[in-house]
Amino acid sequence: MDGRFIVFEGMDGCGKGENTKRLASFLFDRSKEYDFIVVTHEPTYGKHGVQIRKLLKSETDPYRSADKLLELYVKDRIEHLKEVITPSLKEGAMVICDRYKYSTLAFQQTQGIPLEKIIKMHDGMPVPDVVFILDIPPEGALERLRERTAVEKFEKLEFMKKLRENYLKLVDQLPKEKIVVINASKSRESVFESIVKKLDAANILPY
Ligand code: TYD
Repeated sequence: MDGRFIVFEGMDGCGKGENTKRLASFLFDRSKEYDFIVVTHEPTYGKHGVQIRKLLKSETDPYRSADKLLELYVKDRIEHLKEVITPSLKEGAMVICDRYKYSTLAFQQTQGIPLEKIIKMHDGMPVPDVVFILDIPPEGALERLRERTAVEKFEKLEFMKKLRENYLKLVDQLPKEKIVVINASKSRESVFESIVKKLDAANILPY
């Protein structure tokens, strides 16, 4: 049995977390055969993830510590793959991951790291069956974020505008990967409906 690997991406406030959880619950209800669903998240709460969060909390300038963060996010991902993602896929799980390498490709590129360098650092890592980029204008994302928490390091309008562009460019820059852009400004219901439709149309779900 081989598993399926589904990733949700986008800027903070785009609704990834909600759709990740909603898809897991939807699939669990849809078929008894989806009895092994792994819902996971990057950065993790492993040793590198803890360091990342500390660093993010201690800074406000979105462009600072690009190299350090790049190193930490990639190390965190290597550990996440080794401990959680790869073993689960081998056992036939449906792995639904909130953020993966596309976050590093978009965020750390926006911080100033060349895209090619980031791509090279991910050579050989599993490529998801599908990646959903939940696309929303940064103004809308910031509005949602302000309802929730204090403004964080990357949550600055000018940074988020570039970040959005960098996310959208990935579709053409990684033509061999299945990256689907979803208009996440629509209602919650229609966003989730588009996700399920795309999954069905692309024949990604085994049943
Ligand atoms: P986030 O998804 O907000 O985690 P949590 O909700 O658990 O704190 O991720 C934290 C921040 O890290 C977020 O602003 C996006 C950023 N990030 C990167 O810059 N590069 C990456 O590779 C990843 C995974 C996240």
